[in-house]
Amino acid sequence: MNNTDIQPDITEIKNSRIDQVDFSNLQFGKVNADHMMYCDYIDGEWQTPKIVPYGPMEIEPSAKVFHYGQAVFEGMKAFKDENDQVWLFRPEQNFERINKSSKRLAIPEFPEDYFFASLKKLLELDKDWVKKGEGNSLYIRPFVIATENGVSASESDRYRFMIITCPAQAYYNKPIKVIFAQEYSRAADGGVGYAKAAGNYGAQFYPTKLAKAKGLDQIIWTDASSHEYLEEAGTMNIFFRVGDKLLTAPTNDRILDGVTRKSIIQLAKDNDIEVVVEKVSVKEIVNAAKSGELKEIFGAGTAATVVRVEGFEYDDVYHDLPIVDEPYGTFFKKSLQDIQYNRVEDPHGWTVKA
Ligand code: COI
Repeated sequence: MNNTDIQPDITEIKNSRIDQVDFSNLQFGKVNADHMMYCDYIDGEWQTPKIVPYGPMEIEPSAKVFHYGQAVFEGMKAFKDENDQVWLFRPEQNFERINKSSKRLAIPEFPEDYFFASLKKLLELDKDWVKKGEGNSLYIRPFVIATENGVSASESDRYRFMIITCPAQAYYNKPIKVIFAQEYSRAADGGVGYAKAAGNYGAQFYPTKLAKAKGLDQIIWTDASSHEYLEEAGTMNIFFRVGDKLLTAPTNDRILDGVTRKSIIQLAKDNDIEVVVEKVSVKEIVNAAKSGELKEIFGAGTAATVVRVEGFEYDDVYHDLPIVDEPYGTFFKKSLQDIQYNRVEDPHGWTVKA
């Protein structure tokens, strides 16, 4: 990562918690590495970023984030290669996206040099938390919250930008079952669906809870106006393989412009897999499932990486998906991980040394 003039103020931890962590048995997002970064926006300016031991912080109960959900976040990962070098995957994409999300939520944009200088320092301090080996990574969660006190319904004039990290393994440790949304919606035209706004996720918990009660794991959201087109899943973008064609919905103002999604589209092109980025109709997928043409559905996201969908429910009917030889999902997961762990050449320059 580029060196910059801005240097965060650092208070290092006295005693690391790392020896108390069972890295072979991690629950996603539950354990945090030793340090965190925060940077306050006060009087129209981002102050000097601070890196401090991870821990609770004081925030007023009237802070606007609690009342109006003015909050956005990102998900990134750091990987360690066989030579102990730590790598980030397309971090500039996450930086750009958090500012795009912020803009939509009337949050001031965060300076690029503050972001990368803080991230570099954080990863230097907590490099032992990035474990080597297939499936291991350090999940990085940048986020911004509105911290001005006062419950008037208007944008905050104070914010806190933070970065916390957690050692991670698989988000899903088995294939998942999904349901196509027919009643609830995730995002509306002109809304905040494309932003990584905290509320986009919170609003899914109730319908997802209903799906879980039926033995399903996730919802594949459809367009809010007709419920006829498949858009994205709760924690990731979604791909369909019909015959040998790979289909995924184009991004729009309801769909997150996923970094894993766009990397898979590029890898498909690199490997002469026909990829169709067009509206994917529920009818087409249900018919393809009935005729046996639907070979795979898989989700793709930073946390999830690539996860196989083993079946879906629609109109109260559950459709099992076949187990195919040489699944695209497995191929893309391996191709991505080979690049992320620096095991192969990185033809698009996606990886960045931490
Ligand atoms: C990610 O993939 O990084 C996300 O932010 C999804 C989140 C719901 C875990």
